Amino acid sequence: MAMMTTTTTKTFFYTQIPANSHKSGAVASSFVSVPHSSSLQFRSLVSDSTSISAQSKLTGKLRRVSVVVSAAATSEPLTVLVTGAGGRTGQIVYKKLKERSDQFVARGLVRTKESKEKINGEDEVFIGDIRDPEAIAPAVEGIDALVILTSAVPQMKPGFDPSKGGRPEFYFEDGAYPEQVDWIGQKNQIDAAKAAGVKQIVLVGSMGGTNINHPLNSIGNANILVWKRKAEQYLADSGIPYTIIRAGGLQDKEGGIRELLVGKDDELLETETRTIARPDVAEVCVQALQLEEAKFKALDLASKPEGTGTPTKDFKALFTQVTTKF
Ligand SMILES: NC(=O)c1ccc[n+]([C@@H]2O[C@H](COP(=O)([O-])OP(=O)(O)OC[C@H]3O[C@@H](n4cnc5c(N)ncnc54)[C@H](OP(=O)(O)O)[C@@H]3O)[C@@H](O)[C@H]2O)c1
Repeated sequence: MAMMTTTTTKTFFYTQIPANSHKSGAVASSFVSVPHSSSLQFRSLVSDSTSISAQSKLTGKLRRVSVVVSAAATSEPLTVLVTGAGGRTGQIVYKKLKERSDQFVARGLVRTKESKEKINGEDEVFIGDIRDPEAIAPAVEGIDALVILTSAVPQMKPGFDPSKGGRPEFYFEDGAYPEQVDWIGQKNQIDAAKAAGVKQIVLVGSMGGTNINHPLNSIGNANILVWKRKAEQYLADSGIPYTIIRAGGLQDKEGGIRELLVGKDDELLETETRTIARPDVAEVCVQALQLEEAKFKALDLASKPEGTGTPTKDFKALFTQVTTKF
């Protein structure tokens, strides 16, 4: 009986590894040669040079074997900062990350103490204004990924009386125009994240940006979609792996019960399906953090109405449909 020990990194040995296991040092694949009729003992599945002991009972001839194992590695959770974490979509993303604490360490950035209290934030929730780069720096220190959910928020002019019909008028407060929040504020976040060595940025924007005459641009005469798109372009040019999610009209409805639709160049706006529930946008953000298929892509996002189509569960397939980089 011959005893043989093989230590090699050359392949034929597949481990299945979660997409976010980059920090684990888990074996992606290795190919080993072992003697015919051998019994194997795996000593280590968690190193770049997998060691395998094999005992050949018979001939000692070499043959190739294929073995599928699960990664024994425990991958470290990703530390993810959500900005606008007190906002309507941001707080859902923050909550989802907290609930999945085996996969994520959640951090938040909010503008006020009140927003922090609203989401029951503790030390992991930072207070800061994205227009001020110095206020962002502590929040991004040591993060793996950033989800940007900040946005300039138009205010309704006082005096609107729905009973009299007509439409309310909106304005932006001084210093809080889209140019300052959606452009400078997002740019500050991207720059800070880049300086901190972040590995991925997910940015939520809006459909409509291909049309300069889109009605949203006339709110407060502030061209909100133009400034949002400028920030999207800045991110796409940053070199950091990114996912730009351009949502349709956001609705405060239950998530996970509709078929999601991805598109490009605002084509979905020409259809009947151009809205999406905020929890669905939030889930797409979280999934984008875990799937390679989401990186270096920009997508329009909407959903079919509830009760039509099949609720989306396979996000890898959803991102695979997306072919556009911007
Ligand atoms: N509404 C729609 O139908 C629609 C459609 C498509 C896309 N979108 C886009 O989807 C995204 C999410 O929308 P949403 O309605 O969920 O957001 P939202 O509730 O309006 O939240 C925006 C967040 O941005 C924060 N923020 C604003 N200025 C800031 C500043 N200077 N510093 C730090 N934080 C600041 C706000 O903080 P505070 O909590 O302190 O105010 C708020 O939490 C936005 O980009 C939005 O434009 C919206």
